Amino acid sequence: MKRLGVLLSGRGSNFEAIAQNIRVGVLEAEIAVVISNRPDAPGLEIARQLGLKAVALSSKGVGREDFDQQVAAILDEHKVDLVVLAGYMRLLSGAFVRRYPLRIVNIHPSLLPAFPGLDAQHQAFDYGVKVAGCTAHFVDEHLDSGPIILQSAVPVLEADTAESLSARILVEEHHIYTEAIRLVLSGRWNLEGRRVVMQTDVN
Ligand code: GRF
Repeated sequence: MKRLGVLLSGRGSNFEAIAQNIRVGVLEAEIAVVISNRPDAPGLEIARQLGLKAVALSSKGVGREDFDQQVAAILDEHKVDLVVLAGYMRLLSGAFVRRYPLRIVNIHPSLLPAFPGLDAQHQAFDYGVKVAGCTAHFVDEHLDSGPIILQSAVPVLEADTAESLSARILVEEHHIYTEAIRLVLSGRWNLEGRRVVMQTDVN
């Protein structure tokens, strides 16, 4: 069974959706550890309630490299196969990213490469796009820039506010993140340049 290490900083709804999909058998994996750099993150409490190993590791005042090394030590201790960022509001050091090549995934609430960074849904709404969405991608050394695994488009409706749009995007995030993790764990893909290409059956 493949082991996931979840890093989060806040609400934890993507993490909760993944945990739920594991529970009902949609995703074959186990969550080995959940780590939050914010001790008061609601996601950490959800992890505890689910009986998962939950670690609060405050990043306040700790240098990036030092902190990432502490996180990596916990991930390695729990023999994690895939690092799953789920609302992790901290940039990763280059050393951390290089330690887990193509073994860190993230979910971002825009159709990348449009609107990287914070508040992507608001950025897209204010820009006036007609189609918004979300992206599950591998993490490289730059912000929201690694190879794309899956995307889902969400139309912007006339009556939308940034909040109503964000809520519909979040529903899609919960779907595609589990699916992206499933695809990655299957190992049935290749990286061709930046393209994540799924292997097809030949028989
Ligand atoms: C989501 O919008 C995700 O795309 C972004 O951070 C938010 C986390 O939400 N990376 P949650 O903590 O999973 O509810």
